[in-house]
Amino acid sequence: MYNWEELIEACENCYKCDLGKTRKNIVIGRGNRNAVMMLVGEGPGEQEDIQGLPFVGAAGKLLDLLLKGMRIPEDKYYIANIVKCRPPHNRVPTDDEAETCLPYLRNQVFLIKPRIIVCLGATAMKYIVDRNAKITQIRGQWIERKGYWIMPTFHPAALLRDESKKILMWQDFKRVKQRLDEICQNQSS
Ligand code: URA
Repeated sequence: MYNWEELIEACENCYKCDLGKTRKNIVIGRGNRNAVMMLVGEGPGEQEDIQGLPFVGAAGKLLDLLLKGMRIPEDKYYIANIVKCRPPHNRVPTDDEAETCLPYLRNQVFLIKPRIIVCLGATAMKYIVDRNAKITQIRGQWIERKGYWIMPTFHPAALLRDESKKILMWQDFKRVKQRLDEICQNQSS
């Protein structure tokens, strides 16, 4: 496993898949590197590719609103993606691309050691939880694995397309906030 400096250098020099050929910037993550919770999306979009930061476009604005609305402070989370380079035209990453990039995400999890991992959408759920599960079926339920509490929920971009998912995602985040509070209380006592 790499330390942060080595990991960033490895990502910046990574051309293991074709996404490396078209990216403007590597998008590794943002937030507290000692956070108790990690949020994982799919891959960078246009704005993320330009700025080199995850979730800074329309979906990111919505995610920030959700986290603020839930009163989850910024120092409690770190945000990353399954792939670190933008797939052309924002298509879903291929299995090969995701598998090639996953060791970097595992390395981030190793460094951050979060207690909670929130999978934002089907792609994150697929590579973190279960290749064959359906997000509509497993969202909102905790999965305990290897000491991590994993919560699959919708991708914020899905809310932009389908308003009816808002209430469900809000409910999922209520459960996240509840567990986060429990963990933080235990850590401080
Ligand atoms: N969507 C994602 O899945 N990740 C981002 O960083 C931005 C949009």
